[in-house]
Amino acid sequence: MRIIRAKDYSDMSRKAAGIISAQVILKPDSVLGLATGGTPIGTYQRLIEMNKNGDVDFSNCRTVNLDEYAGLGPEDPQSYRSFMNENLFHHINIDMANTYVPDGKNIDSEGECRRYDGILKKMGTVDLQLLGIGVNGHIAFNEPAKSFSKGTQKVTLTQDTIESNKRFFEKAEDVPRYAYSMGIKSIFSAKRILLIAAGKEKAKILCRSFTGEIEPAVPASVLQMHSELIVIADKDAMSELINVAPELVENAH
Ligand code: GLP
Repeated sequence: MRIIRAKDYSDMSRKAAGIISAQVILKPDSVLGLATGGTPIGTYQRLIEMNKNGDVDFSNCRTVNLDEYAGLGPEDPQSYRSFMNENLFHHINIDMANTYVPDGKNIDSEGECRRYDGILKKMGTVDLQLLGIGVNGHIAFNEPAKSFSKGTQKVTLTQDTIESNKRFFEKAEDVPRYAYSMGIKSIFSAKRILLIAAGKEKAKILCRSFTGEIEPAVPASVLQMHSELIVIADKDAMSELINVAPELVENAH
């Protein structure tokens, strides 16, 4: 596990984009696992710039996204498919047919979970999985639970998550209550995981996830077991972890 402290959000984004672009340069046909949320937007902006400058070529990459709100289709501006199109895919030279997001409009939830797991299986190992973290320690939409999930599931969002994510909607009531989410076991099977975090509100959970017990009540804590985990967080998100376990943190200036 490597935990790297970035100066600020922009530094975190530059570092994360640097790692993703290095992955694609070294393996042009990489399978990238991608995330949504406010945190990766800066990383995606950097990747767009790098792609426009000719520094990184996504034409042979395939991507799988972590999750999607149940009930929202690709045309819905709040769907994660729209988010990915707007914040990354439409601005880089990726083949859209090689980008996968669960289908939120599929009302056959078991069928959708099976379908998405089938896609993941066909893709093979994810070379690099980008992750954010929820304030309650969720990764993708795997909320605190009694056990770690395996494959894709239809999950019920917790009140914490609805509260955090309502900023992307007009009102809290508009936030869907359910989502399709890749399971923890699938996420964990990526060759390398890059978790990014920014802002004071992530300080407590970041510290808890990477210095505390490994338990499904804190889904991100399982990542401590991954042999190729990189965490990049800005000073605010790192503020608690650096006090508790300064020896774990690189760039601890
Ligand atoms: C959502 C997503 C997660 C993301 C989390 C944190 O719930 N499903 O994949 O990591 O939010 O989002 P943010 O980066 O906006 O804090």
